[in-house]
Amino acid sequence: MSDIEEMDIDVDVETLKVEFSSAVGDKGKKLSKANLPVSAGDTLPWVEKYRPNTLEDVSGHEDILQTINRFVASNRLPHLLFYGPPGTGKTSTILALARQIYGVKNVRQQVLELNASDDRGIDVVREQIKTFASTRQIFGNVQGKGDGLGNFKLIILDEADAMTSAAQNALRRIMEKYTANTRFCIIANYTHKLSAALLSRCTRFRFSPLPLPALRRRIDHVIASENVRITEAAVESLLKLSRGDMRRSLNVLQACHASSTPLDANGRPDPSLPRDEITESDVYDCIAAPHPEDIMQIMNTLLNSDITTSLRTIHEIKTKKGLALADILSALSEELGKLQVPTQTMVLWMEGLAEIEWRVGSGGGEAVQTGGLAGVVRQGVAVMKQRK
Ligand SMILES: Nc1ncnc2c1ncn2[C@@H]1O[C@H](COP(=O)(O)OP(=O)(O)OP(=O)(O)O)[C@@H](O)[C@H]1O
Ligand SMILES: [Mg+2]
Repeated sequence: MSDIEEMDIDVDVETLKVEFSSAVGDKGKKLSKANLPVSAGDTLPWVEKYRPNTLEDVSGHEDILQTINRFVASNRLPHLLFYGPPGTGKTSTILALARQIYGVKNVRQQVLELNASDDRGIDVVREQIKTFASTRQIFGNVQGKGDGLGNFKLIILDEADAMTSAAQNALRRIMEKYTANTRFCIIANYTHKLSAALLSRCTRFRFSPLPLPALRRRIDHVIASENVRITEAAVESLLKLSRGDMRRSLNVLQACHASSTPLDANGRPDPSLPRDEITESDVYDCIAAPHPEDIMQIMNTLLNSDITTSLRTIHEIKTKKGLALADILSALSEELGKLQVPTQTMVLWMEGLAEIEWRVGSGGGEAVQTGGLAGVVRQGVAVMKQRK
């Protein structure tokens, strides 16, 4: 009949050359994120070292976790679609869920994890996924927490928005054919890059940028575990600058921590010396974000002095601190947005800044666009004065 029957042979899953994507371990064998050796813990980047092991470790997204737990408790799991901005825990959540369902030992046999670094043209979807999905479980019941779900295989398609549309189309038939023994979890940053037919086959969960308390909980945990010396103000800036991206906040924290390592007389790291405390200023330097006092100075000069003085001051600050106009623009628009000014002025500022940001992004020169910025802010001030 159909090729389900043809493919329906119980092959030892180990022989199926299931390719895992992340690190390449000893003996050239590929390792999944879920299977990193414990010994690697010391040298791992913190984003991997502190990747949540269980669903309880995932910060925020309480409603999503609650729904998923309910699916698991009732032994029913639909095809899943996780989408949202980077660093919000999509990959971590599905890996933790897989571990919960199958148990750490069985994850490798039961889960096929493919991401954008693997070849995912139409051939891979046809062959690799089909072969994996069509083989039955030969190990008997997998003793995970959810016994019923343990009989399903899980195919994780990470970064699915990078798949060709032909491959996405090939996937929809496969998803339907193998629903009897397979569940898919599709992960993407943008849903508009996924085919509508694929979207309608999945239950969608949006992973929004993490709120400050959720970031805080995890970061506090890492600070305590790694004995990071950091001021309270620095933690607050770190969380604010991460804009809901946990990966970014962990990476910045690790970079700041590394640069606070004391050096001996020869310039070599010396762990016996006390560490410097990480300050707010270290965090801004690490991210290369403009310091708040520089932005305040730029804003004050733009609002209160004439255009020549403004341009000179901005130029001086930019050269001294090595700032890019793009960074100044986003920080400045945030500060200008907080001011109590007439609506007309605010509209003029926001429209103007948006226009300049677009021009900078599409290749406009820094010097001319800085002039444009000064012009826009002064124009808003002129409107304000006219009204008085
Ligand atoms: N909600 C969270 N709770 C705890 N840690 C998190 C959370 N979100 C992200 N992290 C941390 O950030 C790292 C990256 O997260 P993850 O790979 O899950 O992000 P993602 O949403 O898949 O991002 P991308 O879209 O870039 O693939 C993880 O290793 C983990 O350490
Ligand atoms: Mg991911």
